Amino acid sequence: MEPVPYLDLQTQYHVLRREVLEALEEVCDSTRFAQGPATAEFEAKFAAYCGVDHCVSLNSGTSALHLALRCLGVGPGDEVITVSMTFIATAWAISYVGATPVFVDIDPVRRTLNPDRLEAAITPRTKAIIPVHLYGTPAELERINAIAERHGLPVIEDAAQAHGAKYRGKRVGQFGQIACFSFYPSKNLGAYGEGGALITNNAAIAERARSLRDHAQKQKYLHDEIGYNYRMDSFQAAVLSIKLEHLDEWNAARADRARYYTELLKDSSYKLPAHPSESECVWHCYVIETPERDRVRSVLQDVGIETAVHYPVPIHLQKSYAHLGYQSGDLPVTEALCEQCLSLPIFPELSKEKISRVASVLRDLEKSLTGQA
Ligand SMILES: Cc1ncc(COP(=O)(O)O)c(C=O)c1O
Repeated sequence: MEPVPYLDLQTQYHVLRREVLEALEEVCDSTRFAQGPATAEFEAKFAAYCGVDHCVSLNSGTSALHLALRCLGVGPGDEVITVSMTFIATAWAISYVGATPVFVDIDPVRRTLNPDRLEAAITPRTKAIIPVHLYGTPAELERINAIAERHGLPVIEDAAQAHGAKYRGKRVGQFGQIACFSFYPSKNLGAYGEGGALITNNAAIAERARSLRDHAQKQKYLHDEIGYNYRMDSFQAAVLSIKLEHLDEWNAARADRARYYTELLKDSSYKLPAHPSESECVWHCYVIETPERDRVRSVLQDVGIETAVHYPVPIHLQKSYAHLGYQSGDLPVTEALCEQCLSLPIFPELSKEKISRVASVLRDLEKSLTGQA
């Protein structure tokens, strides 16, 4: 039987091939490889798509988070509240500015920052809050913002997995002072290399981020503070402008596939992802939970179905953060999800027939897991 890949970028590439190669050729012909018209064009398009005034294109999502914290003046001695259930880069950015990440547990339904746990984590040293729209599901932004406002704290949305997702009818990225995106190739909006962006409605923040990404030079060769080379190259911007036109259609196809999985697996013993009514999730991942995760994964692998685990070890228990002193059991919902999560194949071009196959293997397996003949 044909294997089911976790992600297949080939089909999409073949549809866009001619258009993309022409756009890349245009960049070559222009010889404006860094911060030329292609990056300016993408920035304008992505800001408009997200419903904000400014987009600063960057070389990665990690750089976006780093610059967001720099722009908010977060530094040594400060604390930044976030989740441990995220890709490590969310925490890296906090460490890069010399601040300390403070991890709060997730809500077991949305798997995003639990607002009920937030207030207790705020101290006089807290300088920002970073909710993560994990797997494409928006965090509970209204409740998080209400708490943040009460304490005068800025919110940075980590939207690296949630391009185009909506919360209460509005696209994510408009709820915090700043939002950060990654365009890593496997993302819902993926470049053909590395890429990221910071978006904001605050003109001063956008201006500072533009300066910081380009060696902090407002004027050529004059550097008023320590800067970085975090620029997006023009090839990535050209590809992203083309792909942005298709994002809504691809996100709708992902949502359709997520609904299909849920329909086929409902009433099973697997815990399925929620479809929260206040949000339009963009299904970067479709993650089920089972205490037999490793066994289920290996059976799927044996029949050619590729899966992924996002993420096997929560950040608070990573060796790199051992110095923070967290113990196993500190964040029980996060730890349980890391032990039991299994990401099933999902991408816009994945056929319904393949989804049925994945679901039927899971159904058969369930019988053996629960001891039924
Ligand atoms: C939630 C989250 N934050 C940040 C990042 C970092 O983005 P990048 O890989 O572009 O640096 C990622 C990317 O995987 C992510 O998933």
